[in-house]
Amino acid sequence: MPRIFDRRLVLVTGKGGVGKSTVAAALGRAAAAQGLKTMVCEVGTHARLPGLLGAVPGPLGEEQAVQQGLWTVSIDPDDALKAWLAKQLGSRSLVNILTRSNLFSYFVAAAPGARELVTATKIWEMAQRPRWNSADPTFDIVIADLPATGHALAMLRAPKTFNDIARIGPIASQAGAVARSLADAAQSAIVAVTIPAELPVGETLELQDRTVGTLERELDLIVANDVLTTRWTPEQATELGATGVAVAGRVHGAVNREAARAAVQQAQLQRLRHGARVPVLTLAHLTSPALRPDDVEALAKQLSEQLG
Ligand SMILES: Nc1ncnc2c1ncn2[C@@H]1O[C@H](COP(=O)(O)OP(=O)(O)O)[C@@H](O)[C@H]1O
Ligand SMILES: [Mg+2]
Repeated sequence: MPRIFDRRLVLVTGKGGVGKSTVAAALGRAAAAQGLKTMVCEVGTHARLPGLLGAVPGPLGEEQAVQQGLWTVSIDPDDALKAWLAKQLGSRSLVNILTRSNLFSYFVAAAPGARELVTATKIWEMAQRPRWNSADPTFDIVIADLPATGHALAMLRAPKTFNDIARIGPIASQAGAVARSLADAAQSAIVAVTIPAELPVGETLELQDRTVGTLERELDLIVANDVLTTRWTPEQATELGATGVAVAGRVHGAVNREAARAAVQQAQLQRLRHGARVPVLTLAHLTSPALRPDDVEALAKQLSEQLG
């Protein structure tokens, strides 16, 4: 099993709605339970993680302690761009470069990839010691709830692209440091979340190859989320109907449907395991209508058990 909690950065992505935020929150709890000072961050102008971790969201964009050893923050790419520019402008040589080369307006006019670059840089920066702002807390591990696959890959690729474009100077060297961390499996882990259904499994296997093509590295782990626990095999369901015992028709129908759904999932899980070059963990489907912190805790336990 990959030792993903040994890395400074754990990057979680996958198709929309498969449980990326839930899995990122559960990974955060599992890491904190091992005694690691843990930051779980999300990207965007919303804050879902504090609620999943049993806290009331604080001011958007502020790093917030939600539990013992566990922090969250929402990274707004526009704010990250502003903070990044302020940091860069603190350097005189860069101010010169920016004015001479027009890079400033290049960035402010939202150069393709600038927001992706600064967001990736912000995630990376939170794992640095000391932090850029020495008053900010330092972390043992930063777990990022990234956007859906295509956007996440663009974000993870941006530092390399900027490093190649800028070639020399402070932008290049900083982007290069971020790119090296993201390309190095000793420093960062990429976790793909999916559900055991046909399309998401197909996209996850594609993501596995796109990760190699885009980032020149492999995924580290695949998490198959929302897996039905099989209470009935299709055979048992058929037998139940044949016993002659007076099983109400509706109950028999429900058992049949549940067994059929679980069987479809198991077939997709098998297909995923067959195509995956990295370990596949599973997380159970939980029945609460909206997942609560207790559910996230239960998923964190499942992750810890499987990660060893
Ligand atoms: N293991 C699970 N069992 C039951 N519901 C789940 C599970 N994982 C996620 N969900 C639910 O699925 C929905 C999508 O999960 P979320 O983590 O927000 O996905 P994403 O971040 O990929 O969009 C949410 O309503 C969440 O509560
Ligand atoms: Mg999400």
